[in-house]
Amino acid sequence: MNIYVDCRIKDEARRAELYRGSIFLLSPSTNALKLCQLAQEMIADAFRPVDPMKVHEQIPPEQCAAILSELKPKFIHHPLSKQYIQGMLAEAGCDLSHTYFDVPRIRTAFPGDYLKSGIAYAFHPHRDTWYSAPFCQTNWWMPIYDVNRENCMAIHPHYFDRPIKNGSRHYNYHKWNVESRLTAAQHVKSDTRVQPKPEEPLILDPDLRLVCNVGGAYLFSAANLHSTVPNTSVAPRYSIDFRTVHLADVLNRSGAPNVDSECTGTTMSDYIRGTDFSPLPAEAIALYQDGTELLYTKAVTRMGIDRHWSKEAEP
Ligand SMILES: [Fe+2]
Repeated sequence: MNIYVDCRIKDEARRAELYRGSIFLLSPSTNALKLCQLAQEMIADAFRPVDPMKVHEQIPPEQCAAILSELKPKFIHHPLSKQYIQGMLAEAGCDLSHTYFDVPRIRTAFPGDYLKSGIAYAFHPHRDTWYSAPFCQTNWWMPIYDVNRENCMAIHPHYFDRPIKNGSRHYNYHKWNVESRLTAAQHVKSDTRVQPKPEEPLILDPDLRLVCNVGGAYLFSAANLHSTVPNTSVAPRYSIDFRTVHLADVLNRSGAPNVDSECTGTTMSDYIRGTDFSPLPAEAIALYQDGTELLYTKAVTRMGIDRHWSKEAEP
């Protein structure tokens, strides 16, 4: 795999490289900085008078979880967050009329043992494709405040094309929406939700930790194995991530190779077009549906679950 830094490359060629496991690092852009600033303001408002960098020292984890469970969906639904992503994608050379994105999430990773589950879930090594993401999905990750090697995110590139025994066969995205998402904030001390995890010992050292400035971002394939770095620093990590797919790749069913994912269902209904926020065409979504969506759609409607309500519960 290769790491491209601010490389002038067409989006189509970039996607082809992403599907081979490569990573693209982008320097801060105008809209990415605005997105981070919006997140900083919302985080400061939510925790005031507590300094967001001292949360773990000054308030109990239960209180922090309650604050995050209001803050995170508020950010997802803020009209400006979508607008800034639109701008950010355009600045990164994506064709907005063919690029679809999923709503952005704020993630948190606190030092030590403080709040590691539920609303601030510390992700074990996983591929998003174990969680019903398509193989043409690109993940975008960006820090909201400065990060360092002790509180960032890790990628495990040597597993990109190496199968791992894992629990994805038990995961269905539609089932997850009904059964687990709404309870994210209740899992303060431990997380009992069943998630696809590696079922064999992994060699996670060495890993790859990309440390970029606020407003910077890096892109990697949903098939790349990645994890939350155990936060051994003194500061919490706040970050934003979101996903994109390109219509041509969705229709062609192109993307990274599937080496070990056995989940069912699809996240394909969640992406919205870069221009007008409309969903993917029904015939495109249908290519990825396996019938399991029908089993749970009624329950989602009956329970009034907003698919975007608590997206931080996803990988
Ligand atoms: Fe993930």
